[in-house]
Amino acid sequence: MAPPLTTCFVIQLTGLLPAFQVGDFGLSRIKRNTLVSGGVRGTLPWMAPELLNGSSSRVSEKVDVFSFGIALWELLTGEEPYANMHCGAIIGGIVSNTLRPQLPKRCDPQWKRLMEECWSPDPAARPSFTEITNRLRDMSLALQKKRHTPAASR
Ligand SMILES: *[C@@H]1O[C@H](CO)[C@@H](O)[C@H](O)[C@H]1NC(C)=O
Repeated sequence: MAPPLTTCFVIQLTGLLPAFQVGDFGLSRIKRNTLVSGGVRGTLPWMAPELLNGSSSRVSEKVDVFSFGIALWELLTGEEPYANMHCGAIIGGIVSNTLRPQLPKRCDPQWKRLMEECWSPDPAARPSFTEITNRLRDMSLALQKKRHTPAASR
């Protein structure tokens, strides 16, 4: 099996703006519990292709960035990734890079681009957490500005 992830995402919803915290919370322990209660199936959608195809034996930041991209999608859609698929199909799809969560039709182009970059097949093409943080901050500021413009209110 793949090594446990060492990074945990805490996504706090304060009002409408999500606040993200990324850090080492000793997730291996939580993960073990997840494996017991939810089975391996429960963690597959968040695993990067290089973890599933065995080419990476050590945890890198890029593996966590992949998971973060999937978590962003969950936050956006409120759905469970690949809810109706079986383990084999999920593993095969991720490894062959033909399977990624389906983006909603109405999706902010910046969110879309960020998510797609996070779950890029090429680990080197994924952004760093520093870059992700900066981009989320910019998106958040843009959103605030929009909300304070009367013309944009519903
Ligand atoms: C495993 O997946 C990674 C990420 O998509 C890729 O860079 C690598 O070439 C793959 N390795 C094999 C042996 O398919």
